[in-house]
Amino acid sequence: MASIIDPWGSSLPEDYEKIVREFGLETFDARLFPEPNKLMRRGVVFAGRDLKRIADCIKEKKPFYALTGIMPSNDRIHLGTKMIIENLRYFQEHGAQTYILVADLEAAAARGVALEEARQRALDFFIPAYIALGLDPKKTLFYFQSENMDVIRIGFQASKKITANEFRAIYGTNDPGRIVSAVTQIGDILYPQLGERQPGIIPVGIDQDPHIRLTRDFVNRTRRLRFFPPSSLYVRYTPSLDGGLKMSKSKPEGCIMLPEDVKTAVKRIKRAKTGGRDTVEEHRRLGAIIEQDMVFELLKQHLIDDDAELQRIHDEYKAGRMLSGELKEIACERMRAFLELFDKRLAAARVLVKKGGLNFVRYKKAAGLEESKR
Ligand code: TRP
Repeated sequence: MASIIDPWGSSLPEDYEKIVREFGLETFDARLFPEPNKLMRRGVVFAGRDLKRIADCIKEKKPFYALTGIMPSNDRIHLGTKMIIENLRYFQEHGAQTYILVADLEAAAARGVALEEARQRALDFFIPAYIALGLDPKKTLFYFQSENMDVIRIGFQASKKITANEFRAIYGTNDPGRIVSAVTQIGDILYPQLGERQPGIIPVGIDQDPHIRLTRDFVNRTRRLRFFPPSSLYVRYTPSLDGGLKMSKSKPEGCIMLPEDVKTAVKRIKRAKTGGRDTVEEHRRLGAIIEQDMVFELLKQHLIDDDAELQRIHDEYKAGRMLSGELKEIACERMRAFLELFDKRLAAARVLVKKGGLNFVRYKKAAGLEESKR
């Protein structure tokens, strides 16, 4: 039986290569893009769809957009979100018109969060947090799903082109709340093309790929190809500090959230699973098993931007000249600096948002949405 990824569930893909094969993704090749960011250079970005289309837009300076969504169902964000923003920022800095939407309708339908609460959380925390992580608010358009009639209308149109069997084959369920959430997300993904038909890239977690597939199927069925099928970009998970596949709130000991109290983060890093050997003597002789080291992974994914510096640490540690305790010291120090900076920037971004310093898309009348019968 074909595997199913459930975007609302918590099951995990064990094997990234298998996912690439089964779902027909492209393996990511950093040489495709100019000035790739650290996640691209280091293989943390591992796959995507239709990437050349976007690389060409960048190289030829043609218009394209980058869009992602906030689901305001928790009260803190995950380090995985930090990576999504880093990728979004890459496209923003390379010419993309950037959109961030607040999935308040989805939070209500799939998670039971009241609309008003979802919106308040987005304004109080999520949007400021995204800005604190480097998103340029001046170059970003924001909207609430519940306020964007164009999104809803594209969703309705998509619903006419998708069968219940097809939906079940992709998502493994036919729950009506999931169906409306998914078609609404199709509306989000394509909405920027209503103004001008243009390619777009959706940087997300791999759990969102079902929505990308569904959107692409819908686009391929619309007459006269009114939309470009969306491109997408996926990152690996940040592993749990105990060595599990993914940091998750259900196992807080292995998890660092944002914001996080520095003491808690340091304590958790100190207890993390490393690739160090049982004794110092053995470690000096054999060197660390870097592939099994969660602290090194944290440095690589989140805490060290400079490749040469990361390489130096890698080499020292692998050769056994650096001990796990020393690696942890570096990670704790970097984490402290990062968390403190995040707090400071979050406070500043909150002030900005309160002052109304964001570009919000308010409802515009949908133009030319009806399909021609010809
Ligand atoms: N479903 C996404 C989530 O769970 C949120 C979302 C809604 C989204 N619309 C989107 C993400 C469009 C990317 C593109 O977080």
